[in-house]
Amino acid sequence: MTAVETDLTPLLDEIEAEARKSIGRGKVADYIPALARISPERFGMAVCGVDGSEYVAGDADICFSIQSISKVFTLELALKIVGSNALWKRVGREPSGNAFNSLVQLESEQGLPRNPFINAGALVVTDAITARTVSPVLQLLGSVRRCAARQDIYIDEEVAHSEADHGHRNAAIAHLLKSQGNLVAPVEDVLSVYYRQCAIAMTCRDLARAFLPLASGGQQPITGEKLMTPLRAKRINSLLLTCGLYDGVGNFAFRVGIPAKSGVGGGIAAVIPGKYAICVWSPELDELGNSLAGTRALELFARKTKLSIF
Ligand code: DON
Repeated sequence: MTAVETDLTPLLDEIEAEARKSIGRGKVADYIPALARISPERFGMAVCGVDGSEYVAGDADICFSIQSISKVFTLELALKIVGSNALWKRVGREPSGNAFNSLVQLESEQGLPRNPFINAGALVVTDAITARTVSPVLQLLGSVRRCAARQDIYIDEEVAHSEADHGHRNAAIAHLLKSQGNLVAPVEDVLSVYYRQCAIAMTCRDLARAFLPLASGGQQPITGEKLMTPLRAKRINSLLLTCGLYDGVGNFAFRVGIPAKSGVGGGIAAVIPGKYAICVWSPELDELGNSLAGTRALELFARKTKLSIF
């Protein structure tokens, strides 16, 4: 593995101070009541190097709801379970240019979701796992724990119930997919797994560690375990770059230039291939559902380290 640079702690402290200036300009996700209670003042950042180095700032060891970042773990697991040929027949690999929870495209494109990170695509991916395994949630948790090299990662059941109680759009998408023949398991089963995957609680440090295999060609450097092939890691990174921040992905590439995945819990996990996995958390979101101060922090990181992939 390539050696990485010097102690990044002072840089992360500087980035935290600067990025915190964006707090107050966004809005904490309130369509899931259990998330609306999170303090907007939280800010954490963790950078893990492929050589095992770790640097953190702020609330990097406080758990938050990973939400859509979970879609990266389900994608990796589904590819493992059903294989890439079968999965890519059911979901595309193009940016959607639409909101993450949009139904419009799904109807006009006959039930083939644009990519695995919009909700429609994520539900198909979750279905692939749900239809083929006896305990999909346990299987997913096991996979996340292996990626993060940490055994006590858990699901916040209160968040999962809260989302299920307000999940009418996701239920609509799932029923539409079912009517279009692109959902195998019962709708209720797929939704139940989906809400629980979104409610996985992790810290910035956990998420940065869990994204390390994507930065290091498929291996988790902490345990030495080979979790995916280099080709699979490369392909997932390409999807992060083109689809990881929904209809904000172009602007994110322009400002930051690092493959990443966001979640409405305020987390963004990012990959600099061959060097670092990064996670930043700040709960206030922009109008597209991506963390406002988190985006700013990654923009500053890319600028100050000159580590954008471009
Ligand atoms: O499907 C939902 O509404 C959420 N549980 C996940 C959405 C999400 O995180 C979108 N990300 N920016």
